[in-house]
Amino acid sequence: MTSLPDHPIGVFDSGAGGLTVVRSILCRMPLERVVYFGDTGYVPYGPRPAEQIRCFAVDACRFLRDHGAKLIVMGCNMSSAMALVQARAAVDCPVLGTIDAGASAAVEATRTGRIGVAATEGTVRSGAYARAIRALLPSAEVYEQPCPLLVPAVEAGVQDGLLDEAVQESVGPLAVHRPDTVILGCTHYPLVRDEIQACLGRDVRLVDPADSLAERAAAELAGRALEATEKPPTRLVCHASGPPDSLQLWARRVLGLDLPEVGRIDIH
Ligand code: DGL
Repeated sequence: MTSLPDHPIGVFDSGAGGLTVVRSILCRMPLERVVYFGDTGYVPYGPRPAEQIRCFAVDACRFLRDHGAKLIVMGCNMSSAMALVQARAAVDCPVLGTIDAGASAAVEATRTGRIGVAATEGTVRSGAYARAIRALLPSAEVYEQPCPLLVPAVEAGVQDGLLDEAVQESVGPLAVHRPDTVILGCTHYPLVRDEIQACLGRDVRLVDPADSLAERAAAELAGRALEATEKPPTRLVCHASGPPDSLQLWARRVLGLDLPEVGRIDIH
């Protein structure tokens, strides 16, 4: 399929978390539009085996490419950690992942070389962030913390006391290592950034890979002369494999967008 400048950027995630990547993309590239797939019928990905995540990621990339994506941004750290090679082989458009983007942003941000990574069980198990950070900064000390409570809490839209408890229990153990920088290594976590910052303290720099990922996406499109040149009528179209509620909730909270219609399709 030929890609054209007015085609959308494809983004996917297990659920609503990837909307944080959409936010960075739409802010960085005001003329671009996004087609999004949230795998809400299968969230959370965290406890699932690598082989299944590879299949899911390939399905999602094919789905987005079939919907005209000129570039696919894997708004899912776990897929980026486990399935980047397979996804790139499955579609004839560029595919970007979060891991290198997050690692390089953290290496730029750190002063002490003590870097924490808050992520899903699967991403921690893969060791992808630790490898990517050490490739850039061999002396780095990397502390990876699995946070299995956070994705279900965010998908459910939990707030206040219960959310603070989940954040404390999940991210709190990182504090003992005294990191000066912590990567939000799951796209759901920037949605509870304030709570994570409060838990770790003001002095810890939180790195959201989405910002450098959006920079990379912009460079990729520029390099291929695929940048949109006209304002699109609709900036975001969403599809989901399960209930659309979390996408609608977080699109409103994060993007200020109403998503009246979310296409429902099980792609697996
Ligand atoms: N938000 C995804 C990530 O960035 C996956 C979260 C999950 O479903 O466990 O890894």
